[in-house]
Amino acid sequence: MNITFQGHSCFTVEIGSNRLIIDPFLNGNPVAELKPEDVECDYIIITHGHGDHIGDSIAIAKNNDAMIVSNYEIITYAQQNGVKNAHPMHIGGAHEFPFGRVKFTIAHHGSTLTTDKGMIPLGNPMGVLITGNGKTLYHSGDTGLFLDMQLIGEMNRIDTALLPIGDNFTMGVDDAVKAAEFLKAKVTIPMHYNTFDLLNQNANDFIGKLAKKGLEAHILNVGDSYEF
Ligand code: NI
Ligand code: MN
Repeated sequence: MNITFQGHSCFTVEIGSNRLIIDPFLNGNPVAELKPEDVECDYIIITHGHGDHIGDSIAIAKNNDAMIVSNYEIITYAQQNGVKNAHPMHIGGAHEFPFGRVKFTIAHHGSTLTTDKGMIPLGNPMGVLITGNGKTLYHSGDTGLFLDMQLIGEMNRIDTALLPIGDNFTMGVDDAVKAAEFLKAKVTIPMHYNTFDLLNQNANDFIGKLAKKGLEAHILNVGDSYEF
């Protein structure tokens, strides 16, 4: 599995010849270098309905005839907005796709999309486990710390965990350190920080605190890839 950080919580993922994008917030993302019109992908995974996660999903899905995989409410919203290729799932459910297995997990957060026409409730927020080619990636979505992360770590051998450290809307550094201890991933990568001033955090502080606990973490700058 090969992942590339596209800024905020957006990652492009390659599993064999399958190309996925998670939470494609590119337009309006001050740190993103990838343009939505340049995205080439087969699957789009969306963790929740906030604009900085659903992002450019609809346009990218239409450009690529890519399949959106998300909760039932987000899928219905996508279909109402002209997306043909979409697969609804929900928390606790797993499904086998050609690239591997997707399982959605809980996340403690919101999932309402703010639009010109008002607020659209889009179900519950989620995290996601993606297993392909014998490797497992966990993207927690936006969430506060929760004890069930221990269970997620117990029931899955996570190779790479992507955790928010930006604080304010999600876990901050110290809670994300505790999350990493619960999940026992081989490698943890921070996300959802330094996109906006409100989310400014020192990722090296996070890496250092994990190292003290014997846990490995890597910082990915925008455009950096990590293979596992
Ligand atoms: Ni959010
Ligand atoms: Mn967010």
